[in-house]
Amino acid sequence: MANTLESPKSKPNLPQRMQNAQQQAADWMQDSQFWTSIFRPGSIFRKGYTDSPRNRSYVIMNSVLYHLHPVKVKRHAVKVSYTLCLGGLSFFLFILLTITGIFLMFFYRPTDTAAWLDIESLHTQVAFGLLVRNMHRWAAHLMVLTVFLHMARVFYHGAYKAPREFNWVIGVILLKLTLLLSFTGYLLPWDQLALWAVTVGTNMMGFTPVFGSQVRFVLLGSQDIGSETLLRWYVLHVLMLPFVIVIFMAIHFWRVRKDGGISGPL
Ligand code: HEM
Repeated sequence: MANTLESPKSKPNLPQRMQNAQQQAADWMQDSQFWTSIFRPGSIFRKGYTDSPRNRSYVIMNSVLYHLHPVKVKRHAVKVSYTLCLGGLSFFLFILLTITGIFLMFFYRPTDTAAWLDIESLHTQVAFGLLVRNMHRWAAHLMVLTVFLHMARVFYHGAYKAPREFNWVIGVILLKLTLLLSFTGYLLPWDQLALWAVTVGTNMMGFTPVFGSQVRFVLLGSQDIGSETLLRWYVLHVLMLPFVIVIFMAIHFWRVRKDGGISGPL
């Protein structure tokens, strides 16, 4: 009641004055060159943003954070039941593998004398070492599974057909890279299981027609499995393959957008 009778000239109360001061400070900040040079037109942080389809597109295109997101999403595309989010799950597992993998790199040395001992001490002396190692291991197994199921889903929906045939090919490369990442990681614990699995694998490669022995030599870094092999596979596992897979993932996601979003329910 008292508020309605208040004259318009009455002095604003403390909370109002604080709100006004806050607004003035925000206006001053948003008009400054510092602010406008970072947040370009269309950014939601810029003053005067109106919620229109045009501005929404600007927000997506001008933001580093959002630019992978589509400007428009079809209703069916957000239906998890359609894709089972298997592509998204594969990506999530890849991120998890990257984070846990970086943790493991702090405690692991890729030499024939240190590797196995480092894994042992990771279990017993490093805080959360066993947990993180097992998260890395399980996420790797799961990623192979989710990538495979994602491929099966794409096949079942006929999403490999035009105009998505190029992305199917990119997908096949992603599958190969995932399997290679998994296989190169298998050697790193440097235990009996790893040694014999890689011996079998590389012996099989040795039966490649014409270049068999050369292929085997390139993979092993010598005539037999040894410290050269460990170093070679470590570099492949932590540097080269992740780098290549990230590039192909970026192409893969970009193509999903360019091909008009996911295929949609049949
Ligand atoms: C590292 C592995 C992979 C990741 C992270 C990945 C990620 C994704 C994501 C997030 C999508 C959007 C829709 C969805 O979640 O299903 C997608 C779509 C698609 N993916 Fe993958 N993918 C991978 C491997 C593959 C493989 C192995 C294939 C096939 C050989 C493939 C073929 C496709 C195709 C054709 C689409 C479009 C599907 C549609 O329009 O319905 N991808 N992928």
